[in-house]
Amino acid sequence: MSTLNIAVFVGSLRAASINLRLARALEKLVPANVKFHYVDLNVPLFNQDIENDMPAGAAKLKQQIKDAQGILFVTPEHNRSIPAALKNAVDWGTRPWGQNVWIGKPAGIVGTSPSAAGTAMAQQHLRNILAAEGVNVLTTPEIFLQMKDGLIDDQYQITNEDTRKFLQGWIDRYVDWVSKLA
Ligand SMILES: Cc1cc2nc3c(=O)[nH]c(=O)nc-3n(C[C@H](O)[C@H](O)[C@H](O)COP(=O)(O)O)c2cc1C
Repeated sequence: MSTLNIAVFVGSLRAASINLRLARALEKLVPANVKFHYVDLNVPLFNQDIENDMPAGAAKLKQQIKDAQGILFVTPEHNRSIPAALKNAVDWGTRPWGQNVWIGKPAGIVGTSPSAAGTAMAQQHLRNILAAEGVNVLTTPEIFLQMKDGLIDDQYQITNEDTRKFLQGWIDRYVDWVSKLA
């Protein structure tokens, strides 16, 4: 089986991020040929004045998209939308004009929040944005995971069996999606 490199965009910059924790838990559920590469979103704000000579962090982020067979977004919801850091990363990937590296990439979106409503609105906003950039986003099933203390332990094991099975089913479908479109 050929290697599938996945560029993972965790939409939170904080060290104790529950979305990073979810990403790490999903990483434990993928087959050995699937490699997660975590993209650093802590890059300067997009500025069209410097898009032709972009900062090193933004150039690296773009290269990671290019090199990936699949994209995985694991994002919180900030004020009913996606976090600014994630939108910034998407924008860098689209520029300069004619050099959009997102086109045709297979992608999946998941997210978690302490709220029962999960990250539904953020995910929907992200789908709108990615549709305009030509990203092939997996549609169903959707995951709006309500995070509870201990649901994912410090070894990134999912402690609730039903949740583990659900996430395993989702990641299997995602890997299949990437394999077909890569
Ligand atoms: C600026 C800000 C806005 C937020 N807005 C929402 C929201 O709209 N919906 C929601 O479910 N949680 C919201 N939250 C709570 C986050 O879900 C919570 O902080 C979560 O832990 C963020 O994910 P992270 O741990 O991966 O950073 C917000 C948090 C912040 C800091």
